[in-house]
Amino acid sequence: MIVVGAINVDLVVRAPRLPRPGETVVGPGVEYFGGGKGANAAVAASRIGAEVALVGAVGDDDLGRNAIAELRADGIDVDGVATLPDIATGVALIVVDPAGENLIAVGAGANAAVTADRVREALQSRLADTGCVLVSTEIPDDAVVAAVETATAAGVPCVLNPAPVSAGAREALGLGPIVTPNEHELVDLGGVDAVLTASGAAVIVTQGAAGVNLFAVGQAPHITIPAPTAEVRDTTGAGDTFNGVLAARLADGIDLEAAVDDAVAAASRSVEFVGARSGMPTATELAAWVSTTPRDAGQA
Ligand code: RIB
Repeated sequence: MIVVGAINVDLVVRAPRLPRPGETVVGPGVEYFGGGKGANAAVAASRIGAEVALVGAVGDDDLGRNAIAELRADGIDVDGVATLPDIATGVALIVVDPAGENLIAVGAGANAAVTADRVREALQSRLADTGCVLVSTEIPDDAVVAAVETATAAGVPCVLNPAPVSAGAREALGLGPIVTPNEHELVDLGGVDAVLTASGAAVIVTQGAAGVNLFAVGQAPHITIPAPTAEVRDTTGAGDTFNGVLAARLADGIDLEAAVDDAVAAASRSVEFVGARSGMPTATELAAWVSTTPRDAGQA
């Protein structure tokens, strides 16, 4: 499978609470983690067992070199990641509170220089053996549209994670991807009926602790898939884990409901660890965790 999206380095401060506007909160120190919604989802997919190629960009700096080395160590093909001169690697500043909630501000850096042409070229040379393309939206609008367009035109299943909602995400809906908004993103996109009508494909709404709602065109009612109970330490990257595992399972050819089921479980497990990628499970870890974790009163 192929992931098109952002690559960041996350600077994380664990603070006693999230700051209000104009307020300073103080935590014990800063921790560095690999981040970016594209790179995170690629790691989630690779850990669960998929062959993953990532398309994106970093700057020609130490953060970028470390980011690529970490992705390689996670088994990801990074040939489609450009190292761009004169621009910094993307960085996310993240504050996490004791309940695991976060505030995130991203300095896009090289992610903002991913072009539609590069995305098209990178996808076209790899699509032949690809079971799914996953696209997220921390890259320019025309690059998002190019990714979804190239995948769907080739008949390759495509998942669009509209995080954050952008003009590119809105335009790409009409190209027919499976769409995976959270509840807030769904409202921004005009609600489930609007998204279903635009895409003509399934809409999967992630709802944190409440699991996900799966809407399929022409099928009512929707299906709710609950999340296993988790001890929440950091929700950063839970959505990326969901999307990465979902796309990996779809690339394997399994049906949508089973793919969603695995993705919910993996996302739920991921919030027990601090750092976007720290809790992304291997298939063995996921099976062990699911076998000992109840689903009904869940957290994710
Ligand atoms: O979804 C979590 C990610 O959002 C973080 O890793 C951060 O880099 C931002 O892109």
